[in-house]
Amino acid sequence: MIEFKPIGIIHSPFADPHPMPIQPTGAVGVKGTVEVFADFHEGLADLGGFSHIILLYFFHRSQGCKLTVVPFMDSEPRGLFATRAPKRPNPIGLSVVQLDRVEDGMLNIRNVDILDGTPVLDIKPYVPAFDHPDDIRTGWLEGAHKTVAQKRSDGRFK
Ligand SMILES: C[S@@+](CC[C@H](N)C(=O)[O-])C[C@H]1O[C@@H](n2cnc3c(N)ncnc32)[C@H](O)[C@@H]1O
Repeated sequence: MIEFKPIGIIHSPFADPHPMPIQPTGAVGVKGTVEVFADFHEGLADLGGFSHIILLYFFHRSQGCKLTVVPFMDSEPRGLFATRAPKRPNPIGLSVVQLDRVEDGMLNIRNVDILDGTPVLDIKPYVPAFDHPDDIRTGWLEGAHKTVAQKRSDGRFK
């Protein structure tokens, strides 16, 4: 067993999983906050110098999982680990969001594709030199990037 303890909680405009953006690129300008619990405030030193952060969080409203899913961006079944579907054996989400300000343990963020009340597991700075490789292949998602910004979690387009 592995036990994680949340370090904070995400506040966002989204109370329900459907409909809402399915990735930060579909949530451009959507504001939220990360309330970091007092025990962890010391670890926020120097984070304000970064324009973007990686949030790792627990999909707390997700139940069950299937290893083959029809993802939001497709009509074909795909292997779960080739998707970002929230129903996973370990329901961990990852979003790169814009960081506007760090103030008194509160992170003001933008481009939020995360439900209100989501427990945060970790925060890391987004660093292109670490996180943005040059030679990219995107498998079944090839060519779908243009529509991800418009697609919503109820299958409709905004
Ligand atoms: C496709 S997932 C992608 C999330 C993240 N960017 C990732 O790649 O891990 C985004 C969808 O997960 C759902 N979702 C967001 N926060 C959630 C939560 N705390 N619990 C369960 N589902 C959540 C919403 O339906 C949202 O549209």
